[in-house]
Parts: sequence; structure tokens; C-alpha cells
Amino acid sequence: MASDEVIINLDNVRKEFDGYVAVENFSLRIQKGQFVTLLGPSGCGKTTTLRMIAGFEMPTSGKIMLSGQDITNLPPYKRPVNTVFQRYALFPHLDVYDNVAFGLKLKKVPTEVTTIFGKKKTKMKHLSAQTIDEMVLKALQIVDLEELEDRDVATLSGGQQQRVAIARCIVNKPEILLLDEPLGALDLKMRKDMQIELKEMHKKLGITFIYVTHDQEEALTMSDVIVVMKDGVIQQIGSPIDVYNEPVNAFVADFIGESNIYNGSMIDKLSVRFLGHTFPCLDDFPLGEMVDVVVRPEDVEIVEKAKGDIVGKIENKIFKGVHYEYSIMVGKNEIIAQSTKDYPLEQEIGICIGKDAIHIMKKTNTSNFYPGLTVTKKNEIELADTTFEVDLTQLLKDSHIDDDGYLVSKKGQKYDLTGAKVNAEIPLDKIEFSDDTEFGQATGKIVSNIYIGDHYQVVAKSEDDEDFIIDTQYVYNVGDIVGIKIDKKDIKLTLKGDISEYEV
Ligand SMILES: Nc1ncnc2c1ncn2[C@@H]1O[C@H](COP(=O)(O)OP(=O)(O)OP(=O)(O)O)[C@@H](O)[C@H]1O
Ligand SMILES: [Mg+2]
Repeated sequence: MASDEVIINLDNVRKEFDGYVAVENFSLRIQKGQFVTLLGPSGCGKTTTLRMIAGFEMPTSGKIMLSGQDITNLPPYKRPVNTVFQRYALFPHLDVYDNVAFGLKLKKVPTEVTTIFGKKKTKMKHLSAQTIDEMVLKALQIVDLEELEDRDVATLSGGQQQRVAIARCIVNKPEILLLDEPLGALDLKMRKDMQIELKEMHKKLGITFIYVTHDQEEALTMSDVIVVMKDGVIQQIGSPIDVYNEPVNAFVADFIGESNIYNGSMIDKLSVRFLGHTFPCLDDFPLGEMVDVVVRPEDVEIVEKAKGDIVGKIENKIFKGVHYEYSIMVGKNEIIAQSTKDYPLEQEIGICIGKDAIHIMKKTNTSNFYPGLTVTKKNEIELADTTFEVDLTQLLKDSHIDDDGYLVSKKGQKYDLTGAKVNAEIPLDKIEFSDDTEFGQATGKIVSNIYIGDHYQVVAKSEDDEDFIIDTQYVYNVGDIVGIKIDKKDIKLTLKGDISEYEV
């Protein structure tokens, strides 16, 4: 169990690779015995952070402390830390026992010996065969493999091999176990089983686990503390319940669990307007402030048409075992709701959203963020009543688009992303507004024009309520209609779910 003692303290750590900032401003205190998970999309700096803790990578600046001592410049082998990687590098020619014993056989420990002159001296000596035997068997017991000690590792299942890899780490009795997507190579069923087992192991061992995953469900199931990261920066640190129930921004809300996210504005004390309706709420924000409103699907209540705060039409439904998940259209906005009741498609229903189901977040406005957009057949995204051309090759390293419009991996695997859901992000200086409404792909109406120190932050709203925010030196008048232009290369995409779902 976790104690109050801080075992690892990362203090304002930054890592640059040739001018590219992979991790920035990273401060985190981890208590002894905690199960801490670094969670975030691909490329957000999880592995880099873990490698700095392990000592395989040096921070460009900042400090890493272990139990109060600065270890920033300590080499990996001097740190009481062991790492389990996604691809378990076992020795294929050795059996289970020898794989686990391998490191121990090489290890030398200070041992007190008596010289022929009767003097006591400390010498570095190998461990005795009996000690090694005891240690290996104990480690194999913890990972539940004691019966397979003589098996050739090549004959083991993926899950069993990963357990050997874990045994090989814990046999060294590290104070901290680092795990970098250790279950990534396993199939779903095995992954679920191993999640439970890892959690059990954590309990049994009582040591600190620092775990890396991009799977939010895995993070929620296993962790004491989740650190949500994006672009090398920590977004939120909290318990699974905290980050789920009280996400600090729209990114976290979208990344953890499923969310409905809307643009809203505070139109009175404790009342917020979104989806064309004014709802009472619990969060107090300044009047007129533009906010992100997050509503979890399980908090949306479907009622009779006449009894709802708003009216919607059921567009789609999926049976999820215990409940149905409905996609309901409210005007041009979609709302995802869960209900155990079976409603027919096309039915008009009422929707109620309670005060405590409405989570209001200050807009961070560091970029334009559009979650859950659909990719069209022509490799565009649907946004603001129109489509924008995008570069899908950014979803897969070293890929290209073939003549038929398929995304093709380096190895030749084809993907059809038609209908896929993506999040799009566009920096504030990469959208252009023009007085000429024919100028870009979309049009919008200027709704806000705020002077921030040395520039204006201007917001244009499209007809379907999508906001486009820009930083500019120019002045726009509220109420003006502008053309909106976004270059394909400036739309940063992340895929919701795994790309393997789109293989053809
Ligand atoms: N040695 C390196 N040289 C240059 N860039 C690097 C190096 N290592 C990592 N990066 C870059 O730093 C960023 C963060 O990488 P990192 O491996 O930490 O991401 P991650 O969160 O672990 O992603 P994934 O979920 O895909 O494993 C990426 O853009 C990556 O390309
Ligand atoms: Mg990684």
C-alpha cells in the first residue's frame, strides 16, 4: 500500500531531442508503493518519461530525486529500478528458470569473507546456487509460473512469456518497477486477465509500479494515480475517479471515457447555455464566459418527449450488453446517451441533463480542438457543415495514400478509414479568417474579439455552433461574417481507437 513517503520526485523535467520538445515542465511526486499510470495518446512522451526515470535518457533540464537524493546523473544500473518492456526480450534458447536466473548468475554482491590470516574482509562474490534457486522460485510463484520452470520459453503463450519477463525484473527486488505498455502485444482477453494479475502482483510485492499505457480503460482499472499527458505536458494528475468525474479540460474528458463535449456560454449566475437550451449548473464561472461543457453518456436521461429539457431524435443505437448506447440528434448536434430501455430508431424523445451531470471547464484556448469527427470517403473530415481535406498519413508512421485513397503502411497493409472517428487539433495561428466569405472552406460569424496583452483572440462560430479561434493582430467586428480557411497540413489528427480496426 502507498505510504506518505515520496519515492520518486520529478522536478520540472524537460527533454529535448534535437530541438524537438518531447517532455516539458514535468513535475510529479510518486509515493512509495503507489501504482501510478502515465496515460496519453501516442507520442505524448510517456516512454521518454519512463526512460528518464530508468536512467536510459538524461533530462535536458530539471531534476529527478529518489527518496530525497538527486539521481538525475546516476547510470541505470545504479538505480533500484527495473523495466518491463512491451516486447518481452526473452532468451529463446533458455528455459523459464534460466531466463529468470540469468541476471542473478552474473550479479556480484558484497560478501563478508575471512582471509587465511583470520581477517574479515568484504569481497564481491557471486550469489550461491541455493540463493539463486530460492530467489527464482519465489519470483516464479508471484507470477504464477512455478510449474513451468523447465519449459522452453518459445513454447509459452504471449501472456506466459510476459510473466517470465516480469519475473525476471522482480527477481532483482527493485524498489520501483517500470512497465512500458507491457500488455500491448497481447490479445484483448489475455490483456484483461493480465491486468487483474498485475494488480495482484502489485499488492503482493508492495513496491512502486510506474505503468505506461495509452488505453484509458486499463489505466482506470489498475491505477492509484493517473497522470494524463498530451504533447509532453501533464494535463491532470488524480485518482481514476477524479480524472473521470472531474476532468480539468475537454482533452482529458474526451480521452478518459466517452464524453459529450459542447461549446457553451455562461448566461447567468449558475446557468449555462448549450445545445440551444439554458441549463442550471453547479460550476460558477464569470458571466459571458465561453466554456466547454462535458456530459457523460450515462448521465443523459431519456424521457418522454414532452417532459424533456430538450427534444432529440434517435439516430442510431448499439446494444452493449447491459444497456443501449444511443446517438441522438438535437438539431445538428449529436448527444450520446445510455439507457437500459429499448427505444425505436427515428423516435423523438425528451432529454434531461441534471445539474450535477453538467461539467463546465474553462476553455484553455491553446488550440482549436474538435473531438469525434468523422472521416469521409474522400479523406476529409466533416466539420462545421462542410468538409476539410486532411493528411491521414500522420495517423501511421511511414505510411502513404495509394491511388485508390487507402492509407498504406510501410509493410503494405491497407486501411480504409472511411467513417473512422478522429480528433482534430488546429493551432490558434493556423486558421485564417477573411472578409471574403468565398475565401475558405467554411464561413462563420465573429462572436468574440478579446484583446490579450499583445494580440486579439477572435472567435468565429459556424452555423452549426462550431467555434474557430484565432490569435491575430487584426481587429474583427462582432457580428461580421468571415470565410474560414485551414490548410491540410495544419490539421493534427489523432485516431479514436486502434488503427487495426480499419484494416482491409
Ligand atoms: N531518441 C529520440 N530522438 C528523437 N525523437 C524522439 C526520440 N525518442 C522519442 N522521440 C520523440 O519524442 C516524442 C515522444 O515519444 P515517446 O516515445 O515518449 O512517446 P509515447 O508517449 O511513449 O508514445 P507511444 O504511445 O507511441 O509509445 C515523439 O514525438 C517521438 O518521436
Ligand atoms: Mg511509448
